[in-house]
Amino acid sequence: MNAPKVDILLAADWAASGLVQDVRRGLGSQPRTLPPKWLYDEAGSRLFDEITRLPEYYPTECERTILREAAAEIAATSHATTVVELGSGTSDKTRLLLDAYADAGHLERFVPVDVSEETLREAADMLAARYPTTSVEAVVGDFTLHLGHLARYGRKLIAFLGGTIGNLYVEERAAFLGALADSMADDDELLLGTDLVKEADRLITAYDDPGGVTEAFVKNSLHVLNRELGADFDPDAFSYVPFWDRRMQRMDLRLRAEMPQHVALPGAGIELDLASGEEIRVEISTKFTPEGLRKELEAVGLRVARTWTDPTDSFAVTLARKTS
Ligand code: AVJ
Repeated sequence: MNAPKVDILLAADWAASGLVQDVRRGLGSQPRTLPPKWLYDEAGSRLFDEITRLPEYYPTECERTILREAAAEIAATSHATTVVELGSGTSDKTRLLLDAYADAGHLERFVPVDVSEETLREAADMLAARYPTTSVEAVVGDFTLHLGHLARYGRKLIAFLGGTIGNLYVEERAAFLGALADSMADDDELLLGTDLVKEADRLITAYDDPGGVTEAFVKNSLHVLNRELGADFDPDAFSYVPFWDRRMQRMDLRLRAEMPQHVALPGAGIELDLASGEEIRVEISTKFTPEGLRKELEAVGLRVARTWTDPTDSFAVTLARKTS
């Protein structure tokens, strides 16, 4: 039997202590922010899943189209025997890649990394059954904290899909890419999914669907704070404000207090006074150009081998190699 291994790198109180820290730091400063990783509790993960199936939200299908086309070539030219996936979730689209590696016959190990132990265990069981000759070694970890762990695997391809890198701020992104490159040996590969800069209308529609699924997803952050920290946010008192920040080339997703509010967050030991019109930024989603991305990767010693885009040029998947 090919039983998956599960390595747990997150402390039991990771979520509890991390949330308190992020809330104190983010909600207490100007502009008020909340890191997007707290959007993905059970309800949030379900809502995000629903988002990926909305006709307005193009990235998921575009990336799937690209992987369908590129997987065989990636597996054929890659020297990797280990595939690592950061923020793996259910590894849904990644199966296209793993199938191609399995066909090419050199997939020894798959290492899915995710913060959700439950999602990971389910996915790991499914993957171990699907790839009987591949060792599935799941890691419960935070990809901003545990990249050092990946250095132990030689000849690897690290997949970071979905455009999730767009959630990071410029400085965070540079630090993340640097740590990622540090965890790679010469000739190790990175497969990175990024959403591309495009007309504002199409971007805004993708983050402001008429059915309000994205609004519910972003507002779920307040429910998370109410539940986890005993806060008393009234989500109905906030409106959803998504906008395209042209200068920073990112979607900026905020919640705006429609009336003055006093909010207590006993679990974090803070209280907030929000003026009418005051906003909390819940997520950014940065968009890229192939050229800009190439420079950011080169800055950390990763050379772009190939970039695939979908037929509408909406989304890109980039294969880069570490060079010394
Ligand atoms: C999962 C971070 C890639 O930025 O498009 C979708 C999250 N937020 N709709 C994105 C998201 C609102 C998504 N990522």
